[in-house]
Amino acid sequence: MLNNIKVLSTGKHLPERVVTNKELENYVETSENWISSRTGIEERRFVSDNESTSDLAAVAAKEALKRAEVKPEEVSMIVVTTMTPDMPFPSTACLVQDKIGAENAFAFDLEAACSGFLYGLIVGSQFVSAGSCRYVLVIGAETMSKILDFEDRSTCVLFGDGAGACLLGKADNHNQGILSFDLGADGGKSEILKMPGGGSLFPASHETVKNRYHYLKMNGNEVYKFAVKFLGQSALKTLEDAGKNPDEIDLLIPHQANLRIIDSAVKKLGIDYDKVFLNVAKYGNMSAASIPVALDEALDDGKITRGDLLVLVGFGAGLTWGSCVLVW
Ligand code: UT7
Repeated sequence: MLNNIKVLSTGKHLPERVVTNKELENYVETSENWISSRTGIEERRFVSDNESTSDLAAVAAKEALKRAEVKPEEVSMIVVTTMTPDMPFPSTACLVQDKIGAENAFAFDLEAACSGFLYGLIVGSQFVSAGSCRYVLVIGAETMSKILDFEDRSTCVLFGDGAGACLLGKADNHNQGILSFDLGADGGKSEILKMPGGGSLFPASHETVKNRYHYLKMNGNEVYKFAVKFLGQSALKTLEDAGKNPDEIDLLIPHQANLRIIDSAVKKLGIDYDKVFLNVAKYGNMSAASIPVALDEALDDGKITRGDLLVLVGFGAGLTWGSCVLVW
């Protein structure tokens, strides 16, 4: 469908501070064992008070550009996918454009929560495919720690901060690139995962602060049921659209929210676990940053070689989901 569009290079940035499950026992009534057995998470990274999403995104983007030997001024478009922007406006993408010196790029944010990176990848690819842009930076970046309620043990133990970037461009041959994708949304389920405060419905006020509206709220069980259904289903649909079978997958890179959710998708696809990339133990759920950070780490670990068939798949607030099949 979007054949001939390639991820030219990747980059990532994780904050220095490591927060273990044990440390979280100091803040809420939880246990190391509950967190690791229910989610697979052992630790996550949190930014410092003066670090923002654009700081993480800019470092990841610079790394991707350096690896591809592309100058910042050659970039035509920057998409930052995030639900934790530096501020409502200007967009985090504009702040990143300035920080990396990509003076010729137009820049905007795209919000599809944890599915954001997959949405951004497909949007960015369309511009390259149409010939409107030569180089596009798609960045998934989040500072989830800034919207976590440390009085809510059911959510604050799940998320972490980080950023991953991909530089998109044209592939040199027709056998590489994005073969198919599946993006979807069910706005009827918007209530089960949200941050109600700070927008036009509930602008910041003493009342919204008192009600803790500026924190993430989630009905974890409902999201879980949705994720178990859609992760495997979306991956299977994309594979079918690409004319591929699950047994042809060389590496599955799922959204890293919960090991048990990933398990269910792996079972649905009927693939071996050695074909699944996992880093949820180290970083927790980094929302839009999870998939690009995982992709970057899989490359660094030598788990991807030229010609491999990759499946990326995710889900998140909206509710939204997305997947894509690509040949590396
Ligand atoms: O990217 C999308 C973002 N969201 C997700 O991916 C989340 C999807 N959902 C999940 O991953 C799981 O539903 C959770 C990990 C959030 C919860 O796991 P669960 O196995 O569904 O647990 P539960 O919500 O059914 O809670 C079981 C128990 C409850 O106690 P009672 O009512 O049985 O006495 C909770 O109060 O565990 C309790 N609990 C905790 N206990 C210790 C909830 N959070 C904690 C905690 N530590 N942090």
